[in-house]
Amino acid sequence: MRTQVAIIGAGPAGMLLAHLLRRADVDAVVLETRSQEYVASRIRAGILEQSSVDLLTSAGLGDRLRAEGFPHRGIYLQWPGERHHLDFVDLIGRSVWVYGQTEVQKDLVNANTASVVYEVSDVQVRNVDSSAPYVTYLDAEGRPGRIDASAIAGCDGSFGPSRAVVPASVATTWERTYPYSWLGILADVAPSTDELIYAWHPHGFALHSMRSPSVSRLYLQVPNGTSAGDWSDQRIWDELATRLGHGQDGWKLTPGPVTDKSVLPMRSFVQTPMRYGRLFLAGDAAHIVPPTGAKGLNLAIADVALLAPALTALLRNNDPALADRYGDDASRRVWRCTHFSWWMTTMLHIGDDPFDAQLQLSQLRWVTGSEAGAAGLAENYAGLPIGF
Ligand code: APR
Ligand code: PHB
Repeated sequence: MRTQVAIIGAGPAGMLLAHLLRRADVDAVVLETRSQEYVASRIRAGILEQSSVDLLTSAGLGDRLRAEGFPHRGIYLQWPGERHHLDFVDLIGRSVWVYGQTEVQKDLVNANTASVVYEVSDVQVRNVDSSAPYVTYLDAEGRPGRIDASAIAGCDGSFGPSRAVVPASVATTWERTYPYSWLGILADVAPSTDELIYAWHPHGFALHSMRSPSVSRLYLQVPNGTSAGDWSDQRIWDELATRLGHGQDGWKLTPGPVTDKSVLPMRSFVQTPMRYGRLFLAGDAAHIVPPTGAKGLNLAIADVALLAPALTALLRNNDPALADRYGDDASRRVWRCTHFSWWMTTMLHIGDDPFDAQLQLSQLRWVTGSEAGAAGLAENYAGLPIGF
C-alpha cells in the first residue's frame, strides 16, 4: 500500500491529523493496535481549551461539541475554610469547555475522513532518515502488511514504538515521576458543582469534574502503588466529601452509583526533537503531562494544528519551511504546558514536608487573591494561542 502520510495511532492526535490532512487533500492511512470500539469508549480527559474548540470547529467538528459540550467560565480553587472562583472570561477573555475526549474521538470516527486499519500488531517504522520511509505490521488476521509513505506521524501515545525510532544519540528526554497517583471515578450522579473544583486538603488533593448534567468525574490523590480495589465506593465518597467540603454555606457532595474506578500515575515526560528525518511525533508519543492542568488532550490537538499544515506544505507544495520548524514550534508550547502542569500539580498535592504545605497555601492565596496571580493561572489553563 502507498500513501502520503502513514499515521501510527488512532487516538485524538492521529485521528485529528488524518482528518485535517484529508481536508487538505493529503492522503493518510492510520494504523491502530486496538479495536475501534475500545478506542471510542475509553475514558480519558474532559476539558477543551478555547483554541482546541476553535480548531475543532474550523475543521468541521464543532456541531456536537457546541450542542452537547458545556462552556465553563472558570474553575474553583479551594482549601479548608475557603473556596474561590476564578473567572477566566473576566480575567483574560477566554474560557474552557467540558467535552470528553471520548466524545472528540467519536466525532472524529463519525467524520469518517480517516482510513484506519484497526487491530494491527508488530508495527515497525523503517527508513525514516531516507526519503522513502515505510511501516510494516501484521493485520488482525496476522497477515503482513506494508505502507510506503512520504512521511510518518508517530501518534502512538505514551507506550507506542515511534519515539524509540529516534536514535539515542539524537534524542533528549526529560522525566519526572510524582510520588502520588490519582484514583478516578465516573459516577451516574449530577455534579454537585457548576464548574470544576480543585481542592487542596491535608489528606491530599481532590478534584470534582464532570462529563454531563448527569455524570460526574471525581479524583482523589492516593499513594503510588494504590490499587482501585483497596477503595470501596463508600470510602471514596466519604473521602471526597471530606476533601471537597470547605466548611462554608452548607455545600454538600451528592454521592451516586460508581460506574468506573481506576488509578492513574502522575508523570511528566518530554522527548525532543519531535521531528527526525521523515518521522514527526505528536501528542503523548512525544510528551506526557500529569492531568492536573487538563493539558494532555489540548497539547495533542495543538501539535496536530502545527503538523497538519507543515505536512501539507511539504507534500503538496514541496515546501519544507513549516516541517523544518515543526519540532521547535511544537516544543515551545510543550514546555509551557509541562511547566503549567507541574506547577498546578505541585501547588495542590500533599507531600511529606510541612514547609511545602505552607508554601502551597501561600501560593493559593496569591493566585486567588491577586488579579495578576489569577490571570497567570487563567491564561495557562484556558490555553495560550496555538502559535505561542
Ligand atoms: N501501533 C499502532 N497504534 C498504537 C501502537 C502501535 N504500536 N501503540 C499504541 N498505539 C495506539 C494506542 O492504542 C492509542 O489508541 O496509539 C493511540 C495513542 O492515542 P492516545 O494515547 O490517546 O494519545 P494521543 O492521541 O497523543 O492523545 C493524547 O490522550 O492519553 C491521553 O491524556 C492524554 O488526553 C491526552 C491524549
Ligand atoms: C477530567 O474531567 O477528567 C479532568 C478535568 C480536569 C483535570 C483533569 C481531569 O485537570
